[in-house]
Parts: sequence; C-alpha cells; structure tokens
Amino acid sequence: MAYDWDKARPPDSLRFFESKWAKRSDPLAYSGVWRFRELLPFAAPESVVTIGEGQTQLQCADAVAKFVGVKPGRLFLQYEGMNPSGSFKDNGMSAAFTHARAIGARRAACASTGNTSASLALYCCVTGLMRAVIFVGSGKIAYGKLAQALDYGALTIQIAGDFDDAMQRVKQVSQRLGIYLVNSVNPFRLEGQKTIMLRVLEALRWEVPDWIVCPGGNLGNASAFGKAFAELLELGLIPRVPRLAVVNAAGADTLYQLYHVRGVRWNDGEPDAAAIDGFFADMDRQKRRAETIASAIEINRPVNLFKCLRALAVCDGVVREATDQQIMDAKSRVGAGGYGCEPASAASVAGAKLLVEEGVIGADERVVCILTGHQLKDPTATVAYHTTDQDQFNKVLGSRGVKRAAFANRAVEVANDLDEIIRAIQLYS
Ligand code: F0G
Repeated sequence: MAYDWDKARPPDSLRFFESKWAKRSDPLAYSGVWRFRELLPFAAPESVVTIGEGQTQLQCADAVAKFVGVKPGRLFLQYEGMNPSGSFKDNGMSAAFTHARAIGARRAACASTGNTSASLALYCCVTGLMRAVIFVGSGKIAYGKLAQALDYGALTIQIAGDFDDAMQRVKQVSQRLGIYLVNSVNPFRLEGQKTIMLRVLEALRWEVPDWIVCPGGNLGNASAFGKAFAELLELGLIPRVPRLAVVNAAGADTLYQLYHVRGVRWNDGEPDAAAIDGFFADMDRQKRRAETIASAIEINRPVNLFKCLRALAVCDGVVREATDQQIMDAKSRVGAGGYGCEPASAASVAGAKLLVEEGVIGADERVVCILTGHQLKDPTATVAYHTTDQDQFNKVLGSRGVKRAAFANRAVEVANDLDEIIRAIQLYS
C-alpha cells in the first residue's frame, strides 16, 4: 500500500504522538490505579510499586444489553480481564505490594481460588521484591490460573481442601513465619480496587451510572466499591452514589442467604451477630460446602462480609444468586458480544438479567457489570459448554446441575477433504 504523504500530512517528529497521551512515560500516570493516587493517599509517590495495572476498558455492549433486557446503550462491561495477570486482582495487588515493600516484607502469601495467587506470583516475579507463597485448594483452581502461578515461579502449596481451608491455613502460617498476607483482609488491597470505580466513572465522563453489578466471592470488590463511592460523595466529587448489586453463585451463596433471605443489615456497624454466627454454625453442622462452576467465587466464609454489608448500606444494595446454568449462559453471551470472561465474572451479567426480570433494574437504567477475570482463565468450562462430547459436558457442567448449553457454538467435525470442508462451510454459514 502506498500513501500520498503530501495529502496525508505526517507529523514532523515522532514526538508528536506523545501529545496524544501526554504522561504515558510516567509510571504513576500510566497505571490505572496510581493515576488516582490522590484518592488513595497512603503511599508516597516514590514508594509506589506498579507494573502498569489498570489499563482496562468500559465497553458499551448492546448484544449483551439485549440478553439482559435493557435498552441499547444502557449496558456497560468493565473489562478487568485486561490487567497484566488477567484479572481485577492486580489493582489491589499493586497497592498491597506498595505497602509490603514499605514495611520491608521479603515473602508474601495468599490463599486463593486462583486469581489472587496469579496476581501475587506475577508481581513477585516482575518486581523481584518478594517470594510468593500461595495456598490453593487441590482441584479447586482453574487451569489457566494454576498455569500462571507455576510459570511465574510461585511456591505453590496445594491443600487437600477448599478455599476456606486454605484461607485458615495461610493465616496461621503467615502469622507463625512472619509472611506478609495479601488476601483481601489486607485493607491496602481494597484501596487499589477502589480505582475500578474511578475508571468506570472516568469512562462515563464522570456521570454516575444507576447500577454497579459485581460477582460476590470474598466480597473485597463490593466492599472497595462501596468505600470508593462513600468517599467520593463525602468529598463532594459526585452528586449521588449508584446502587450496588452483588451476585453470588447459587452454590456459594452465603451473602445471599444472610442479606436477602435472613435480612441481615449493616445496622450502623452492628449487624445481627447471632444470625450470622447461627448461619455458619448450621453450615458446619450440615457440612455444607460451596460448589459451583464459578470456582473463583466458590467460597463459604467471605472474609469481607462486614465491610460488604456497609457497602450495601451506602449504595442501597441488593444481593442475588445465579445458578451455574444462568452463569454459563450469561458467560457465553458475554463471549459472543465482547472480549469474554471467566464463569465467576458472568455472575454479574446473569444477576443483572434476573434483576431486570424482577423489575428491580429498569430497562432505561445505566448498568455497569464488572467482568472480573479474563476468558482464558478457565478454558475447561468454556470448552465443556460448547462441546459435542456429552461425557465432557456431564463431567464439567452436568455434575453441577447445568442441563443444556443454550448458546453453544459447536465445532463442526469434517474429514480432511476439500469438498467436504467446502460443503460444511456452505451448509453452516
Ligand atoms: N471474580 C473473579 C474472577 C475472582 O477471582 C474473584 C475472587 C471474584 C470475582 C470475587 O471477588 O472476592 O472481591 O468478592 N477471587 C479470589 C481469588 C477469591 O482467590 O482469586 P471478591
């Protein structure tokens, strides 16, 4: 291709392009977290640890809006899968790392369903500042995430148990060995995660949407989002807060049971402790354990339960649960309409759809669903959804109550023969 450069008028110098994104070479301005550091002012600029997290996008997704039941132009997907480790965790990890370095930590640990551990492992190997020690439940972590931890060189401890078992152990171990804990019990993580909301507002030209919808696991995101909006309101930087919807997987629905079914509320800092304790006592007595295809949020005892109740109070929140069937169908619609996501992320879209069906979210309202993790984190679930192999479907999805793949895009098997290939393309396209 040849251009008529006289007409196209190229710039005189490559420096011209700098003006388009003026401060890109300053790591603090480049980071989608630290660009907002005046709103998380715990760290001196020179102490910040950043690897360029938070370059994420808000996409207006009309195909998904149709599935959810809101009007075109009203549904937005905040793609946190575009972070360096492929999930929203990098927002908080950058903040926790900044604090960990400031206090001279040499090792950092977490229990994880896979994304926190991938993020920790990445920050450790990129910065060389600390050694990562990660605890995962055996068989409880999607392959994409396990692959990351192993590749990044983290010391990976697989516990014969689930996330909650791993969480209990990592707390004990980090206390005993003096290892810095980066799970979202760490308040610095939540400071970093506040910036997800700042980027959403920025993309909407600082207009507050009507709804923020996010998946609920350990409830760090919901807590951080509530804190962000409470602070922005207090500072007079926004005129009102959006409503917050937190969506559990039906197989891991502690928040839904407590908030929606039993009516537990923040209650000015005094939630009904007896109701909460009773719920967990029942859970232990009945040996109920979380079980969902959305392995990222397969959690029994969310560590940020109290902070999340506060966020729900600040944002007039609602909590819903979505079945694995609803989650997988929503995930396939997200994939068909945009960049794709992992199962847990699609809980937000499945939940938004339920809330529209109930009339809680209006078809005219502006809704932002947070897509927390990248599509490639859990290829097993995606391939099982689209497969023609019934055994594979049953093993991965059927065993969790998913009956059909309503939006399956099945591969077409054809012999290695030109005529047959052409016939198949003509038949199916
Ligand atoms: N979505 C994804 C993709 C996640 O990895 C997680 C949590 C959540 C949603 C839930 O977010 O905890 O803030 O409510 N993953 C954690 C982990 C538990 O270990 O990676 P939350």
